[in-house]
Amino acid sequence: MTTFRIAPSILSADFARLGEEVRNVVSAGADIIHFDVMDNHYVPNLTIGPLVCQAIRPHVDVPIDVHLMVKPVDRIIPDFAKAGANIITFHPEASDHIDRSLQLIRDHGCKAGLVFNPATPLSYLEHVMDKIDMILIMSVNPGFGGQSFIPQALKKIAEARRLINESGRDIMLEVDGGIKIDNIAAAAKAGADTFVAGSAIFGQPDYKAVIDAMRTQLAGL
Ligand code: DX5
Ligand code: ZN
Repeated sequence: MTTFRIAPSILSADFARLGEEVRNVVSAGADIIHFDVMDNHYVPNLTIGPLVCQAIRPHVDVPIDVHLMVKPVDRIIPDFAKAGANIITFHPEASDHIDRSLQLIRDHGCKAGLVFNPATPLSYLEHVMDKIDMILIMSVNPGFGGQSFIPQALKKIAEARRLINESGRDIMLEVDGGIKIDNIAAAAKAGADTFVAGSAIFGQPDYKAVIDAMRTQLAGL
């Protein structure tokens, strides 16, 4: 049976109480903390950097999954590795040398992955599959929480699952954007095993109730 992972995005958390928020969401059953890094250049929003990653690191022992929405990519990778990141993903369009960026992440002891915007082709994977630990399929355009799931992402998830199976490698398939209790099963059936959810979890008072309801949807798949 597939191991499903719930990865709450702290983009929708209360930044004034971030330590408490990440502790609470892990107690509620989160498997991974999804950490959205936006630079007001690659995407039109500005969020958090390595200092905040370092600050939350002692509060949780689950993996921190750093989603870089920044350009350039390479300069900031070592800083996040030192700040305690476990997984670092980036958008291929934002790197001039994708293979080098993936290798840099791995050289710093982190798992590496590529992120695919709704209009970005999976062909970027073709020659680098051996350096990939995670594929992240965006089901919204990056930059903001609280957007609606783009249904065309399901076809791309299925295609990514096929490529992972063909590779025979152990690669996480994550979906990010507009994931809710009522669409998580569709994403799982398409082939995703790791689910980012920001507003669906942090937008509700009872994080455990949402995560439990998501797991109920995934049970038996
Ligand atoms: C969007 C971010 C997402 C976002 C998800 O650019 O990468 O991680 O926080 O938020 P929801 O779940 O609210 O769509
Ligand atoms: Zn994200």
